[in-house]
Amino acid sequence: MTEIKTIKKIEHINTAVDYFKNEIDEGLSSIKKSLPSKYFYDKKGDALFVKIMHLPEYYVTRSEHEIFRTKSQSIIEALHLNPNTYFELIELGAGDGLKTKELLRELNRLHYKFDYMPVDISKNALESLEKDLNKEMPSLSIKTKQGDYFEVLESLNENHNSKVILFLGSNIGNMSDDVATDFMSKLSANLQNKDKLLLGVDLIKPASIVLPAYNDSQGITAAFNLNLLQRINKELGANFDLKFFKHQAEYKESDGIAKSFLVSTKAQQVYITKINKNFSFHEGEKILTEISRKYNDEILNSILSKTDFIIKNRITDSKVYFANYILERK
Ligand code: AVI
Repeated sequence: MTEIKTIKKIEHINTAVDYFKNEIDEGLSSIKKSLPSKYFYDKKGDALFVKIMHLPEYYVTRSEHEIFRTKSQSIIEALHLNPNTYFELIELGAGDGLKTKELLRELNRLHYKFDYMPVDISKNALESLEKDLNKEMPSLSIKTKQGDYFEVLESLNENHNSKVILFLGSNIGNMSDDVATDFMSKLSANLQNKDKLLLGVDLIKPASIVLPAYNDSQGITAAFNLNLLQRINKELGANFDLKFFKHQAEYKESDGIAKSFLVSTKAQQVYITKINKNFSFHEGEKILTEISRKYNDEILNSILSKTDFIIKNRITDSKVYFANYILERK
C-alpha cells in the first residue's frame, strides 16, 4: 500500500514538472517569447506578492479592501440573499482572505446560514486562513478545497445548494480575453440559475497611476518578475544570469492592459538542462511574463456577451479605481 502511494506521488510530481517544462519550452521557443505568470507563485513569489499588496504604489488590493470594509452591507443587499436560506460562499483563489473577512464578519453578524469554501492552489495559504478564521469567528463553518480554480469549476455542480462565487483581486485580469471568456463560460455552465458571482476587477485609469503599481520604487515587482527566472534555474537546471535581464512594465490607457516583461540586456544564450536546449536572446529582446487587464463596463460586457452572465450591479471604491461586479445568469 505504502509503495503504491509512493509511486503515485512520484508520478504526480513528474507530471507537474513536465507541465512546467513544456510550457517554458513552448514560451521561450516562440518568435515573441513569453512565460506563464502562474509560475510566479513559488514560496519566494508568494512572499513577494504579499509585499506587493502592501506597497504604496499598488492601489489594487487597497481599493478592493476599501469596498469590502465600507460596503459589505451594500454587497449583501445587492446579492439578494435570504438570511434563512442556506448557501455556499465559494472563493476562487482565496489567498489570505483579507477582504473576504470583512464580508464574513457582516454575514456572521446578521446570522446568515452559509458555509465558507475557500479554494486555493496553496495548501499553506488555506491552512493559515482556516486557523485565522477559526480564531476570529469560531462559529463560522469553513470547508477548504485545495486546487487550481479551473479544476474546481467542474465540481461546482455536484450539489444543488445555492452558491455565491467570489472571484476577487482582479485575478481575471491575468487572463487573456479569450481565456477569460472560456473561464466565465465554464463557470456559468456549472452554476444554477439563481447562483451569483461577485467579480473584482481593476478599472481602466491613467498610466500615471497604473505604471508605478507595476514598477514600484523599492523594486519588489522587479524581484517578483525576475524570480521566475530563478525558479527556472532551480527547478529546470537553467543558467539564467539575472544580472543580464531587467524588469519592464508597459501600459497604455487606450489598451487598458498592463504588461510585464523581462528584457535581455545583452545578446546571450541560456541552457536549460531539463529541456536539453539552448535559448538565444538578442540585446533588448523581451519576454512577456504577465498581462494585467483593466476593465470598464464595455470590456466586461463584451466578454460576458459570449457567456450566460449579465451584470446586475457594480460597487466601486471612493476613487473609482476598482469595481466589484455582481453577475447573475441570464
Ligand atoms: C494577482 N494579480 C491580480 C496581480 C496583478 O495586479 O495583475 C499580480 C501582480 N503582478 C505584478 N504585481 C501584481
